[in-house]
Amino acid sequence: MIQIEKLSFSYSGSSSPALKNISMEIPDGEFLGITGASGAGKTTLSFVINGVVPHYYRGEYYGNVRVNGNDVFSTDPCKVALDVGSVFQDIDSQMTCSVVEDEILFGLENFGVPKDEAEARLEWALRETGIENLRSREISGLSGGQKQRTAVAAILALKPNILVLDEPTGELDPASSRNIFRILKELNESYGITIVVIEQKIMLLCEFARKLAVLDKGSLAFYGSVRDVLKNADRLASLGVNYPRAVDFHKSLVSRGMIAPGTEVCISAEEAAALAGGLL
Ligand SMILES: Nc1ncnc2c1ncn2[C@@H]1O[C@H](COP(=O)(O)OP(=O)(O)OP(=O)(O)O)[C@@H](O)[C@H]1O
Ligand SMILES: [Mg+2]
Repeated sequence: MIQIEKLSFSYSGSSSPALKNISMEIPDGEFLGITGASGAGKTTLSFVINGVVPHYYRGEYYGNVRVNGNDVFSTDPCKVALDVGSVFQDIDSQMTCSVVEDEILFGLENFGVPKDEAEARLEWALRETGIENLRSREISGLSGGQKQRTAVAAILALKPNILVLDEPTGELDPASSRNIFRILKELNESYGITIVVIEQKIMLLCEFARKLAVLDKGSLAFYGSVRDVLKNADRLASLGVNYPRAVDFHKSLVSRGMIAPGTEVCISAEEAAALAGGLL
């Protein structure tokens, strides 16, 4: 469980806070998408969960963040890393080895996992991320999607109970993006791993996430089920957040008096078609 209470943070030397009075609880087993315009504070929010803030980036820190009961501020970041696995926005800077299996074994060795156990975890992580065939490949020769899978595998092998990923599909085409989210869904459903994923592609969040957090200039503008948050289409648009076309369709039916304003908002083309079908 992640508990964030009245958290504000300003990077040292910066005059304006990157996060302003954020309070939220992320229960175990959640699949949370975080979205918001560029500079809204998404990456910084992920940093307070994995301890990069305040242990690597310092600044003015107010409030509390607890991960599985441990106060991140006063907990050794290596201990936090056992609970929270992080895939950073710039994965190239995260990779330390040149070959896929070495990259996965590197973290395991660092955390002192015995050799037999490390081999079993390596095979498991490769299997879960569908990259068994890439085991001996040079990372520099991999596609963007394959690199992302490698980064997820390396983190997964450490068996964290929370995975924090910062725009894992940023450089990927739609098919590879969905594949990454399918892996996250599988990890969430089969192993109960809490997923916290920063993502700009709202359709992916509609399909895969249960909850949505929207940041606006460092503040938490919305936090709730994906459907509840998407009801606020006009406000989301003003925050620079996309929403599915199906929501517009729902809005136009409401404004024409064809459905009641309280009718559940549709968030996919299939749901919009079903809604239209019901009216015919
Ligand atoms: N290392 C840093 N030092 C000072 N200010 C920073 C630092 N990193 C980020 N900021 C500032 O903090 C605010 C939030 O940045 P953050 O990177 O968390 O936003 P973001 O939502 O992840 O943006 P993007 O979508 O561009 O990745 C911005 O105003 C940014 O300029
Ligand atoms: Mg960012």
